[in-house]
Amino acid sequence: MPIHIDETNQVFHIQTDHTSYVFKVLEHGVLGQVYYGKQIHVRADYANLLKREWKNTTPSYSLEDPGFQLDAIKQEYAATGTGDFRRPAYQVTQENGSRITDLKYDHYEVVQGKQRLADLPSSFDDDAQDDVETLIIHLTDAAIQLDLELQYTVFPHQDVIVRSANFKNHGVAGVTLDAALSAQLDLPDSRYDMVQFSGTWSQERHLIRTPLRSGLQAIDSVRATSSPQQNPFMMLARPTTTDDAGEVFGFNLIYSGNFLDQIEVDQWSTSRILVGINPTDFAWHLDPDESFQTPEAVLSYTDAGFNQLSQQMADFYAAHLVNSKYVKQERPILVNNWEATYFDFDDEKLLKIAKKAKSLGIEMFVLDDGWFGHRDDDHTSLGDWFVDPTKLPNGIGAFADQVHDLDLKFGLWFEPEMISIDSKLYETHPEWLIHVPERRATPGRNQYVLDYTRQEVVDYIYDLMSTVIDDTKLDYIKWDMNRYITEMYSTNLAANRQLEMAHRYILGVYQLYDRLTKAYPDVLFESCASGGGRFDLGMMYYAPQAWTSDDTDAVERMKIQFGTSYGYPQAMMGAHVSAVPNEQNGRMTSLETRANVAFYGAFGYELDISQMPDDEAAEVKEQVAFYKQHRALYQFGKLYRIDSPFEGDGNVMSWIVVDDQQNHAIATRYQILNHINAPYIRFYLRGLDPNKQYRINGGEATYYGDELMNAGLFMDKIFDEAAEVKALADYSSRRLLIDVVE
Ligand code: GLA
Repeated sequence: MPIHIDETNQVFHIQTDHTSYVFKVLEHGVLGQVYYGKQIHVRADYANLLKREWKNTTPSYSLEDPGFQLDAIKQEYAATGTGDFRRPAYQVTQENGSRITDLKYDHYEVVQGKQRLADLPSSFDDDAQDDVETLIIHLTDAAIQLDLELQYTVFPHQDVIVRSANFKNHGVAGVTLDAALSAQLDLPDSRYDMVQFSGTWSQERHLIRTPLRSGLQAIDSVRATSSPQQNPFMMLARPTTTDDAGEVFGFNLIYSGNFLDQIEVDQWSTSRILVGINPTDFAWHLDPDESFQTPEAVLSYTDAGFNQLSQQMADFYAAHLVNSKYVKQERPILVNNWEATYFDFDDEKLLKIAKKAKSLGIEMFVLDDGWFGHRDDDHTSLGDWFVDPTKLPNGIGAFADQVHDLDLKFGLWFEPEMISIDSKLYETHPEWLIHVPERRATPGRNQYVLDYTRQEVVDYIYDLMSTVIDDTKLDYIKWDMNRYITEMYSTNLAANRQLEMAHRYILGVYQLYDRLTKAYPDVLFESCASGGGRFDLGMMYYAPQAWTSDDTDAVERMKIQFGTSYGYPQAMMGAHVSAVPNEQNGRMTSLETRANVAFYGAFGYELDISQMPDDEAAEVKEQVAFYKQHRALYQFGKLYRIDSPFEGDGNVMSWIVVDDQQNHAIATRYQILNHINAPYIRFYLRGLDPNKQYRINGGEATYYGDELMNAGLFMDKIFDEAAEVKALADYSSRRLLIDVVE
């Protein structure tokens, strides 16, 4: 029983295996936040935690109740305009123009398990095996008959609570939601660091850690995608928290559109966290009897550091968010032709790559951009998902057959949300292009976006894609999205519904994903948005993997993948070995280091293997064989970050994956620059069984787990004058295969 309710005191205590979340109905039907953190005992009431002092110059609830001051109360889901001056969790404009509401507690219900949401990606509990319960708190505003359900689903064994809100208009007049966040959390102090994952194209999810300060601090997106600039995953950690120890809260949102993660430190140093759809550029009109469901926010806490937080959130995604078919399904090793050929290919060139791939043990050939319309560059043909006969004269089906005949899986690139002016689709349906009539439409990567608020657009693209999937017996789709949305307007929507556009757009995208993944359960989807621009939990629900970054340089990837690993499991991270000098930054790194970085993800190659010299091809063959042997460990093992490239001079990064039995592990230590006469290195491993003995890289010596973790391992210098130096000493990597002594 993870949900404990004291009826007399109206206290709700949600317990996970290691955490407690407590709130209470206060005076006047207001919900007060009592506690979130390490598990505490269930008691009837927590009066001590609810004590307040009267605050000078702060408005009171009423003349009769001067001591009830909303601005000084930690709340569950706060309104605005009635004395609480912090940013609210929601705001409703009514027919008379007023934005004052009074949602009071009405009743609660507890339901077993967790149903999926109808139109949004969401957590679920399909096999009802995990002691999952959902608490629904009903509030109502009697004056306008607006009802609010606050939903809390508790996943006790992963220490996760999922929150969302649902507004229902039972009144006779329409209302408009100007803001409807998914979760609010008011914490009693502000001694936290905000940890965010920010960047830009090709530098996604770099870790930034900043102490909280008085006032508002936020990350958000108004680009209609979750974006590479800011990722919706955020942590709040005590200043002393490390990867291995300390208190940390994790927040994420199961959503791919405009989001807001905001923290407001108020005048008394309490911290209000808000997570949900960005209220900027958002409003939702509710006619009588209409309702609005927010996306779900994921909350998690541990006192055992960032590694533990990442692991419990990853366990939660595996059990309750990712399509169960893919949770433990090893992902095929692929070769993608993008960096090998760009738009310049024909069937002969591609088949050469595919044949070579087969001979090296690679399992899937992915045909990237350029196979459709007359797409010889990025100015044309998006929307025309018909094969280009000049490149593939026998058709896409026949080409797929040739790949399948090699006993390789076949994957294809689509960019389903886009339209080029130079396309048949635009000739027939110019009105489907998102724009404001009579005004300039802004291009991005020379292309425009389809209006996914229109059902006919979703239907049209579904039909085209399913024809290709049927024709090719497709195994994999790379679903790209290469620009942000501008001129957010739809002639499909009434004037008072234009601010619904961004959310309606992503609902259309989700509908297409939903239909395709249901109709083609055996097609593996990888999401992509100019690399890692839509790397989020909404996508994860449909597409178990995502292209992490267009930056395939091994050194840059260290930071990108290390940063990403805080919020997302390694099986989700598409990671490929590409050619050197690297296409993006010209850097030379060894094939060994490139693979040692890419191994910690959904692995593949993205270079012209058909042109590779024999010695490199032989090395690739070995890498593929090695990866197959250890793929489950790399993709699904428990990941512990050890040395962070975001700390110190950033010269070293290391991490380890460990299997469930703690019998096998692979640790890799990467070094950017090699220094002469450098300090001695001790490499402290993690996650091993202290009492088991291990061998390293098949060597004679054995070591106890406790020694490897606490005393560490001596690492000798990389540059050996006596040996022929094959690998570069700069940008080097050392891989340790750690196996229990049987
Ligand atoms: C985006 C993707 C790349 C590639 C190109 C094709 O940039 O991130 O991997 O698919 O589009 O145009």
